[in-house]
Amino acid sequence: MKKSEVKERIDILRKEIAEHNNRYYVLSQPSVSDFEYDILLNELDTLEKKFPEFMSENSPTRRVGSDINREFEQVEHTYPMLSLGNTYNEEELRDFDSRVRKTISQSIEYVCESKFDGASISITYKNGSLFRAVTRGDGNKGDDVTLNVKTIKNIPLKIEKKTLPAEFVIRGEILMPRAVFNRLNEERIKSDIVPFANPRNAAAGTLKLLDPRIVASRSLVCMVYFLLSEELPYDNHYDNLKAASDWGFSVPESITLCRNIEEVFQFISYWESGRKNLPYDTDGVVIKVNSLRQQQELGFTSKSPRWAIAYKYKAEKATTRLLSVVFQVGRTGAITPVANLEPVLLSGSTVKRATLHNEDQISLLDLHLNDLVYVEKGGEIIPKIVGVDHSFRNENSRKIVFISNCPECGTELIKNEGEANHFCPNYLHCPPQIKGRIEHFISRKAMNIDGLGEETVDLLFNKNLIKNISDLYDLRLEQLVPLERLGEKSAANILKSIRKSIDTPYSRVLFALGIRHVGETVAKTIAARFRTIDELINADVEQLTGVNEIGPKIAASIVAYFSDADNIEMIKRLKATGLKFINEGEPGPAGSSLNGKVIVISGTFLEHSRDEYKELIERNGGKNSASVSGNTSLILAGENMGQSKKMKADELGIPMISESDFLELIGEV
Ligand code: IVH
Repeated sequence: MKKSEVKERIDILRKEIAEHNNRYYVLSQPSVSDFEYDILLNELDTLEKKFPEFMSENSPTRRVGSDINREFEQVEHTYPMLSLGNTYNEEELRDFDSRVRKTISQSIEYVCESKFDGASISITYKNGSLFRAVTRGDGNKGDDVTLNVKTIKNIPLKIEKKTLPAEFVIRGEILMPRAVFNRLNEERIKSDIVPFANPRNAAAGTLKLLDPRIVASRSLVCMVYFLLSEELPYDNHYDNLKAASDWGFSVPESITLCRNIEEVFQFISYWESGRKNLPYDTDGVVIKVNSLRQQQELGFTSKSPRWAIAYKYKAEKATTRLLSVVFQVGRTGAITPVANLEPVLLSGSTVKRATLHNEDQISLLDLHLNDLVYVEKGGEIIPKIVGVDHSFRNENSRKIVFISNCPECGTELIKNEGEANHFCPNYLHCPPQIKGRIEHFISRKAMNIDGLGEETVDLLFNKNLIKNISDLYDLRLEQLVPLERLGEKSAANILKSIRKSIDTPYSRVLFALGIRHVGETVAKTIAARFRTIDELINADVEQLTGVNEIGPKIAASIVAYFSDADNIEMIKRLKATGLKFINEGEPGPAGSSLNGKVIVISGTFLEHSRDEYKELIERNGGKNSASVSGNTSLILAGENMGQSKKMKADELGIPMISESDFLELIGEV
């Protein structure tokens, strides 16, 4: 390669890696596997080592990725959070062992641990109390996500042990168990929210939510792997982790002391299959030198310790042939290309189909019919095609081109700027969209109409008996009875269930309408704020985004839904049928009593500390502010309230509320 070509390649790699970092750390939506990412990073690293004149301080090889998000306060780490060197094979691990033994002349013990596949967290404790939890960020400073982390049940909030250092930092990985992940994604797909690619992204995404109540509902867990303090209880890593376990942290049982590298290999090979029985994902093994003195002697490179290394398991991959690509139309008209494959065995199940995500993915792979493709199954539910073996391509094979018209109704597809998917805009007449909306409407979490499955909806639709959800309420027994497989009894049960659904509360009806981006929680929030459908229909983007949890995307989707005359007509019919479009005293989502309120705390209190009140305000949807201004909605006034605050509040006519009234307001008494 000529020097100019090397420079060009380096620039391309840096740009691509930076893009992947952003997708991974900030958007929590990666488009390549870890393995593919590491290949790019390795290629860049090799080129930079060979041509040091092209090295740059800002190269991604010099920096750990950054997950910093502007909405959280950034906090400096007391001890920088470094990353780990990766290896994928035995030889590289033996090299690591040789390097360690070259520096350390005494005997060495290694600690083997699972490499947890989640989001890393650094938690500081002071005098036994959880003080602060910070994400890795760029390694030097990260986001303060304390309120969110406090909702994770296996992280102690208060530790009472005699041996506890006055101050310590514990590091670990926040994980979303696979079962929780699968449930969450099912819900997201139903609410037309992009599903998370894998449990790791779901955990990272959850940690960055602005509402701790939603975080609490996601059942995250934390596994700890590193204790740091000026007064550590022991001089080795293994005993320190055992001490942490005694203090109430979750340290996995599998952590093992190994006397040599052969024992390390035994651990790796045992857990390669054993890890599948764990409730959460792990993607390798971390090997650490046990003695802290030896660790110190080995030291660090600019971005990782020399005393530890990660051995990563390769994501399971198989090779098979691409038979065809079909284009599916979802409930909201989103088009998903799906590959039909020659059946192949992968991680214990036969794979016949794989998702291709969108047009960009197809062009990136430069996919042709009959290509030999690599299929990978990571944490994802649906396997994906990660590459093509071009050497097996038949010259005459046809290139896969993305469709321009809807395969179901023929309408020309559209693609909105900034979105990856194509859409069929024929919202009203495209059959899978109509059927999808009806299926969503009758589903258990929406109107809960029993006895009407996907097949029956298909049947009713094909016989022209239902064309939209309001038609359901006009169905008659004599129309249903003659349908295939439906006897008189089932038909009567269906009608009974449809009638019963009329009593469904307003927030569930809102969810059932299937407005894009309006999931169960958002529907509850909306129902609490806009207590009748007419208020909601008349709300503009500004009023909507003024509500906690509703961002511009959701607001735009709601406004678009109600500006469609057919939707308004349908709602009119549903109203006439007797469906509830008015909030009859439903509670909002847990603790939304302070939604949108800006509250100033002043004085001293009996029941809780000021910090606890701060937390309670945020937990209930409010915002705490330090000073009284025109924006203040309320003052929580304790004993001996500050005089200047009192005068300002009187001047501006801001209501003051006592401690006990406040507790009543948030439902704590
Ligand atoms: S030790 C200085 N142990 O892997 C060494 N890290 O690639 C600090 N990770 O940022 C890391 N499981 O988020 C360590 N058992 C384990 C781990 C682990 C997962 C993550 C951690 C770190 C990343 C490094």
